[in-house]
Amino acid sequence: MKKIAIFASGGGSNFKAIYENIISGNILAEICLVVSNNPSCSAIGFAEKNMLPIFIVNKALYPDSYYRDMILKQNLMKADINLICLAGYLKMIPKNIVTHFENCILNIHPALLPDFGGKGFYGMKIHEAVLQSNAAESGATVHFVDDKYDHGPIVAQEKVIIEADETVNLLAKKVLAVEHRIYPEVVKAFCENRIIWEHNQPKIEVSIED
Ligand code: GRF
Repeated sequence: MKKIAIFASGGGSNFKAIYENIISGNILAEICLVVSNNPSCSAIGFAEKNMLPIFIVNKALYPDSYYRDMILKQNLMKADINLICLAGYLKMIPKNIVTHFENCILNIHPALLPDFGGKGFYGMKIHEAVLQSNAAESGATVHFVDDKYDHGPIVAQEKVIIEADETVNLLAKKVLAVEHRIYPEVVKAFCENRIIWEHNQPKIEVSIED
């Protein structure tokens, strides 16, 4: 059974979606660590309520960046983590962790990468930029993490149509609903060893149940 670490800084709705899929038995895995830079975010509240192990890492607690990166890696290794799921984590993943967990860190992004990704594209700013560009569609992307923001190999993507009277809030809601479906699907595939790499590109093998 795979051991998952969730990294979250905010509301944690994607974290909850993954957690619920585990509780219902759809994903055979265990959340062994919840990491955040923000001890008072809702994601940490949810982890506390459900008695999941928590590790808070930020500049205030660990001012030295080398030590901060090292202690995070140590905690991940101590928990024997196989997969890291970024779920609204607003900090860059340290290089030592990207290297150690190569092809084992997933992120969800609320747009169709490679468009509308990278530094400065976070939260509602993403949906605002999509609407301003007059794009016909947006969507959600699950990708593996490398050392650049929103850059690693894409494993799943699903589109939503942008209506003529679309607002930022409506678009955010529509995309989030897609996120809650596709992120657990990718996590499930990872946990069942159904992510196959061909020419450095990940592909999901269809499960026998589908
Ligand atoms: C989501 O839109 C996700 O795509 C992005 O950050 C947001 C996190 O939302 N990376 P939540 O905390 O999971 O509700």
